[in-house]
Formats: sequence, structure tokens, C-alpha cells
Amino acid sequence: MKELIEQLLSTAVSSLQQQGVIASDVTPRIQVDRTRDPTHGDFATNLAMLLAKGAGKPPRDMAALLIAALPPHAAVAKVEIAGPGFINLFAASDFQSQQLEAMLADGERAGVTPVSQPQTIVVDYSAPNVAKEMAVHHIRSTVIGDAVTRTLEFLGHKVIRANHIGDWGTQFGMLIAYLEKMENEHASDLQLADLEAFYREAKKHYDDDAAFAERARAYVVKLQGGDDYCLTMWRKLVAVTMEQNQRIYDRLSVSLSNADIMGESLYNPLLPQVVADLKAQGLAVEDDGAQVVFLDEFKGKDGEARGVIVQKRDGGYLYTTSDIACAKYRVETLGAERVLYFIDSRQAEHLQQAWTIARKAGYVPASVSLEHHAFGMMLGKDGRPFKTRSGGTVKLADLLGEAVERAGSLIRSKNPEISDSELATIAEAVGIGAVKYADLSKNRTTDYIFDWDNMITFEGNTAPYMQYAYTRVASLLARHAGAIDMAAPFAIEHEREQELVTQLLAFNDAVQSVAAKGMPHLMCAYLYELAGRFSSFYEACPILSAEATVKASRLKLALLTARVLKRGLGLLGIHTLEKM
Ligand code: ARG
Repeated sequence: MKELIEQLLSTAVSSLQQQGVIASDVTPRIQVDRTRDPTHGDFATNLAMLLAKGAGKPPRDMAALLIAALPPHAAVAKVEIAGPGFINLFAASDFQSQQLEAMLADGERAGVTPVSQPQTIVVDYSAPNVAKEMAVHHIRSTVIGDAVTRTLEFLGHKVIRANHIGDWGTQFGMLIAYLEKMENEHASDLQLADLEAFYREAKKHYDDDAAFAERARAYVVKLQGGDDYCLTMWRKLVAVTMEQNQRIYDRLSVSLSNADIMGESLYNPLLPQVVADLKAQGLAVEDDGAQVVFLDEFKGKDGEARGVIVQKRDGGYLYTTSDIACAKYRVETLGAERVLYFIDSRQAEHLQQAWTIARKAGYVPASVSLEHHAFGMMLGKDGRPFKTRSGGTVKLADLLGEAVERAGSLIRSKNPEISDSELATIAEAVGIGAVKYADLSKNRTTDYIFDWDNMITFEGNTAPYMQYAYTRVASLLARHAGAIDMAAPFAIEHEREQELVTQLLAFNDAVQSVAAKGMPHLMCAYLYELAGRFSSFYEACPILSAEATVKASRLKLALLTARVLKRGLGLLGIHTLEKM
């Protein structure tokens, strides 16, 4: 509805521009807000006040002109000038009913129409590193990226998931040499259960044992030369790591699979050509034996253009080189029109440098948007990076186990009678949901404090609260399944009822804004508000004792609420339960 009004206003502005009332080069920021006070209509805009000065007209006159130029629409019942020059718009109630009916008829999609021009969108997310345990920061990228991916796909875009795993680099010589040593000693299948320890031990041998280090260095060279033995060992390391990670993805209900792996190694064969291109275009120049691109866009402290190394003196390539090739590949080979990178905010400069170079080289046209959807760090309650009590990295698998355990005790305390098997199912959904939702519900750009007490609770904007809100509506509906007279018209009378309706009809806008901004917390905030409005409605508006037509209308609202909650939480990757 907001979107529609913005469109109508923008049409009004264009026709006033044609009439010469408003200068043709003015592009005002059209902002439409929902009003709090129903006597002011349903929506309001300050557009007339923004335009008045430039047009040399009193704001109220400007408002009158805009209103006169506004194309008539069935959705808008009445338009008024208010105060110094606000425009208040009243939504037609029969239009709202029509929209509600359309939403109801739309079933599980809950009125969200697929976009008319689907794009090919690459989403770069999760991206753990081989032979390392997934660290806490990877959960942020994984969970946030997955929610945005689901949303884009739901809107009908062609989404390509790109799991840019760290599967290439000089460390693989050392890892292969250690894997070999382990296999020789145990003569059994490799035991990589503890990847963290594996990596640590490999590094220790590399640092302490000269013969080992030499072997490691030889293996790097062989691996890069495509040696069979080294490639086989390398593949084992990748496979074991990703098997472990896949178990985590599955437990988290993250929609990534092996098919989505597009790691750094994929771009390795493209790197010589990239550097050759950069040299040929005069972008890369030799500096102390290395190939360097100097970028005016990135000045050092001395005001000099800063150099970005794309090839080291020894011929080796860098993380930046591979991200340049990667951007090229996504545009040229995958046909991306938009690429979303869900990466730690500390990598902002790295990405900007790689993209600036990729654009200068002509690999990425201006029409393709490359977007860094950054997020802050995950901090402990003490405000310091999230660590175990002994200061080690927190393993994601352990964290999830603890979440489910804690959720189990919370639910058991509310419902001591519950059977063990029922408890297990609910605890899994609530515990995993709580960890994901805690991350999703905060504005991702800031650091985020991981605190069990704020996430595994039925109070506030948490997964348990939202899941319970859904279950409550679902069980109300289950009690009346079949008894809803779908043909009865909507009868929206009570103020709480109207507030619920406005929120239900804003679902489409919420989905669109998550897709546009890559910010799932907007969906969480929307759903939380919806759940709150539903419970105010439920308290103020009796359903069962109401007369037949009102009862039917209210049950239809409950049905829509249930569908929107389920769909919205589904887009976030959070499971709902019919019983809790
Ligand atoms: N593997 C990297 C890390 O763990 C993240 C990779 C992100 N994607 C990219 N295209 N650079 O920090």
C-alpha cells in the first residue's frame, strides 16, 4: 500500500513537472509514513513541504496542487491537507478488504507477488576455511546470507549460492604433509574430527621440524602444478571439512549443499590471465619485483595512491587477486546482475580494492551491483570477542548443542508433563531457532553481543516468543478448522482489528525491503510487531462469542496472521511448530 501511494505521488510530481509548476530537474525523496492517529488517515507525506520552497509556493498550496494531480485510485478513499502542508491519505476500507481477500486466496505465498523482472543474483555467504572448524563469525554470514537468499528466491529471482570456501593457498603444503604423516602413522582412515587440533599440530610441525617444512614447501609447488598425489590429498582435506560443515548446515536448516561450493581454488586457473590483463591495460605495474595496482581511490597516510599487490615477487597470487577473478567469473560466467557478499566488516577495504580493480579492468560493468553486506563481530557478554571460558574459539557445533539443551530445560520448566520425544523435537526447533534469530533480529552492521539469557526466553523479540506466537494462532485455528466461513466478508470495526489489518497488508513491503537491503532484521521487526498486534487484537476482540459474520471475519484474520508468521519465519529459516 505504501509502495502504491509512493507511485501515485511520483506520478503527480511528474505531471506537475510537465506543467512547469515544479522544475524538471528536481527529484524529491518521496516519503510516505503510516499515521499513528487514525483521524489523520492511514498514510501521510511531507512531500508538499519539501517541494514548496523550490516552486515558490506556500506549502498548503503546493499540497493542493499535488492532490489535484494525484491519479484517482480505488485504494484511496480520501485525501486531505493537514497542518502546515501535510497530505493525509485515507485507505478505502473496501479496498483493504479486497486486498485481504486476495491475500487469503493466495494461500501460502500470503500475497507476496513474484517480481516482474527476475534477476540473476549471486549470494556469497558462509565461506568457512578448509581444515579449520567453523568459527563463530561464520555463523553470522551463514545465517544472515541464507535468510536473504531465501527471500530473493521467494520473490522469483534466480539465486546462485556461492560458498567461497578458503580452499587454496600456501598453507595446503603444510596440511598435506601433516595428513600424510598421520596416514602413515595410523595407517587408518583419517581422523580429522578435531580440525582445529589438526591445523594446530600441522603448524607446530611446520615451525619446529625443518625436514617437514621443506616437504611442505615442495608440496605447495606440486599442488599448484597439478600433481595427482597432492591433489588427492587436498581433495580429502576439503571433503572432510565440508562433510563436517554440511552437518552444521543441516542442523541449522541452512540451504547450502556441496553443489554450492565455489571456493578460492576455482579461480586459481584464472589468475595468470587476470594479471596479464591488468599489465596489458597499464593498471598493474612492477614494483620491487611484484605486480602492483596503484589506486587513487585509496590513499595512504602520506596522500600517495596506495598500492594493491596482485602478484608477489615469487609469482604467488593473493586473496585480492582471487576476488578480482571471482567478480569477473560471477559476471561473465554466471551472468550475475547483482552480487551480494555477506562478509565481516573488517574485509570492507579488501573488497572495495578488488572491485575497483575489477571495474577498471572492464570485468564488471556499471550495471552490475556489487554489494558488501557487512556485519560486525560477535562479542561475549563482556564486550570482548566471543571466546570459551579458557579463551579458545567457540566451536559452532558445541554452541548449537548447548542451545538445544538450554531450550530443553526452558520448555521442561513450562511444561513438566511433556514426553521426552516431544521435548526433543521442540527443543531442537527452539534452541536452533533462538541462536539464529538472535543474530538475524539485530541490525547486522553493528557488533553483536551473544547472550544466552536474551535469546532462550519467551520475553521480547526472540525465536521462542515468535514460535510460541505462531503456535497460539495455529492452535486457535486447529480448534476451528473447517468452521471458518470463508465466504463471509471481512468486517473490520475495532481499532485493534484495523491495526492488525494494516500490519498484515504490509507483509509484501517487508519482504521487498529485506530483498533490497539484505537486512533480515527488518523482517524480524515486522513479525514481532505483527505478533504484538495480533495479541492485542485477540484480547480486545472476542472471536468465539462474536456473532457469526464477525466471528468469520476474525477467524480469517487469524488465518492470515498464521500464514504470514509461518511464511515470514520460513524466509528467515526458522521452523514453526503446530504444537509447543
Ligand atoms: N573465507 C573467508 C573468511 O573466512 C571469507 C570469504 C568471503 N568471500 C569472498 N569472496 N572473499 O574470512
